[in-house]
Amino acid sequence: MVTSRLSVSIAGLQLENPTMLASGILGYSAETLGSIAAGGAGADITKSIGLKPRVGYANPTVVQANCGLINAMGLPNPGIDEFVEEIHEAKRLLSVPLIVSVYGFSAEEYEKIVKKAVEAGADAVELNVSCPHVKETGSEIGQNPKVLSEVVRKVRCTAKKPVFVKLSPNVTSICEVAEAAVEAGADALTAINTVKAMAIDAETMMPVLGNKVGGLSGPAIKPIALRCIYEIYERVKVPIIGCGGVTSWQDAVEYFLAGASAVQVGTAIATEGPTVFRTITRGTDVYLKTKGFASVREIVGLSHRR
Ligand code: SIN
Repeated sequence: MVTSRLSVSIAGLQLENPTMLASGILGYSAETLGSIAAGGAGADITKSIGLKPRVGYANPTVVQANCGLINAMGLPNPGIDEFVEEIHEAKRLLSVPLIVSVYGFSAEEYEKIVKKAVEAGADAVELNVSCPHVKETGSEIGQNPKVLSEVVRKVRCTAKKPVFVKLSPNVTSICEVAEAAVEAGADALTAINTVKAMAIDAETMMPVLGNKVGGLSGPAIKPIALRCIYEIYERVKVPIIGCGGVTSWQDAVEYFLAGASAVQVGTAIATEGPTVFRTITRGTDVYLKTKGFASVREIVGLSHRR
């Protein structure tokens, strides 16, 4: 049984527990979003949606690595005009907040998609400025503080809902990018998207993924994500949503201690199933009770005390 020890507010968005489906591989259909919520997620984030339909890359788009997955799907999606129907359906089904992930090729595109997503019922939006392998979007925007600021500022002016910005770890200074996003109006930051990676098959002597290069997720990147969250927490005041390799309640607790106010789960759904959310929240709840904390909020950033 989940208790109020776990409830959090992220930039005004009320969550019964601090877990969310990460945007990445899943999250196109209202049905999938419903099964993730039934597994205990505190909020759902959709797969990233663009202005126009996009087919994505040729197979293989996902490959198993030691302690994780490397994916390069290429942002396949039906485009926002068709996805609006799915948002309506998801809103009918879900009792948890729905956050729509958005990517674009210009600030104007991000703004247009966000406007349509919010009008369709999105409770918040997450700007994907960190996909590591699609040209002229994703990390090509998020690696450049000036371009990133322009995107966030434009979206913030239009969106009547909280704006999250998902950061790339594939930068020299994630703090510099985090500060640019917050100064431009980001209400919360998601840290981190996948780490640029690839796999080569010794037998065929060729890259495995259709796109050759992809993004590594899962337990392999947890120490990188923890370090990013720890550093960002010391530099900005907005809530941080931790993402990257969260599989157990112990992982989630470590993220809270580093400075995350909530965590996203993606790759672990492939290994543990959708009920991984309930396992994480139950374990976190028992931990908080045993340690004498009345709320998960009390342990956010606790590892920074001197
Ligand atoms: C993809 O669709 O290829 C993944 C998106 C992302 O990593 O942001």
